[in-house]
Amino acid sequence: MPLYKTITVNEQTSLAIWKVEESEDDLWKGIELTTHCQNRFNGMKSELHRRAFLSIRHLLAKYGYEDVDLVYDEKGKPHLKDGNFISITHSHNFTGIIISTAEEVGIDIEMQRDKILRIANKFTQFEEYRTLANTAAVIRKLTIVWGAKESLYKIYGHKGLSFLHHINVKDFMFDNNKTTAQIIFEGKSSMYGIRFLEFENFTCVYATRDNE
Ligand SMILES: CC(C)(COP(=O)(O)OP(=O)(O)OC[C@H]1O[C@@H](n2cnc3c(N)ncnc32)[C@H](O)[C@@H]1OP(=O)(O)O)[C@@H](O)C(=O)NCCC(=O)NCCS
Repeated sequence: MPLYKTITVNEQTSLAIWKVEESEDDLWKGIELTTHCQNRFNGMKSELHRRAFLSIRHLLAKYGYEDVDLVYDEKGKPHLKDGNFISITHSHNFTGIIISTAEEVGIDIEMQRDKILRIANKFTQFEEYRTLANTAAVIRKLTIVWGAKESLYKIYGHKGLSFLHHINVKDFMFDNNKTTAQIIFEGKSSMYGIRFLEFENFTCVYATRDNE
C-alpha cells in the first residue's frame, strides 16, 4: 500500500500522504464505513474520488483511527471523536491527513497548474510575484499561497472569510519550505505557521498555530 510520505511536524502533530495507485477493490480491504460515509461514497461518481476517499481511511488507520472515529460537522469539517484535531485533503491521486493532539491544523494538496495564473488576482496581491524568474516559478509560488489559504480556511472556517482581504501569507523563499500567515477578521488578528513541500508537480501545504 503506497504510503507516500510521513512528516513529524512536532511532538503533537504529524501528517501522512498517500499516493493512490491501488484498485478500488484493494482499497476496500480492511475498511468499514459508517452509514454516513457509505452514503457519501455511494454518491461519488468519479472512481478516483472513491479511491481517494478510501485511501484516507488507510491513512487514518496509520494513526490508530477508523472511519467510525471521525465525525463531520454541518460545514463538512472533519473532527476526531477523541478530541484530537484532524484535517483532510485530496487532489487527483494524492491524499493527505494531518493530525494533532494539541491544536487545530489544516492541510491542502494541489496540483501545480497554469490555471492558477488566471485566478490569482481573486486570492492574492498577484503583483508581488511578478518579479519571479519564470512562469513555472510563479505557478509554484501561487500554488503554495493558495494551499496556505485553503489550509487556513479549513482551520478557521468562518463564513465571510475572504482569501484576498482577510488572509495574508508572508513572502517566502522556496528553499525555506515555510512561512507565516496572518488572518485579520472581524477585528481579531491571529498568526499561523505555514509549511510546504512539493513532489511530482503537486504542492502540499499545512498550517499550524505554531509559527516558529
Ligand atoms: C471546504 C474546502 C476548504 C475544501 O477544499 P478543497 O481544496 O476543495 O478540497 P480538499 O480535498 O483539499 O479538502 C476536502 C476535505 O476538506 C474537509 N472539509 C470540508 N469542508 C470543510 C470545512 N468547512 N472546514 C474544514 N475542512 C473541511 C473534508 O475533510 C474534505 O474531505 P472529505 O469530505 O473527503 O473528508 C473548499 O472547498 C472551500 O470551501 N474553500 C473556501 C472557498 C473560498 O473561500 N474560496 C475563495 C477563493 S477566492
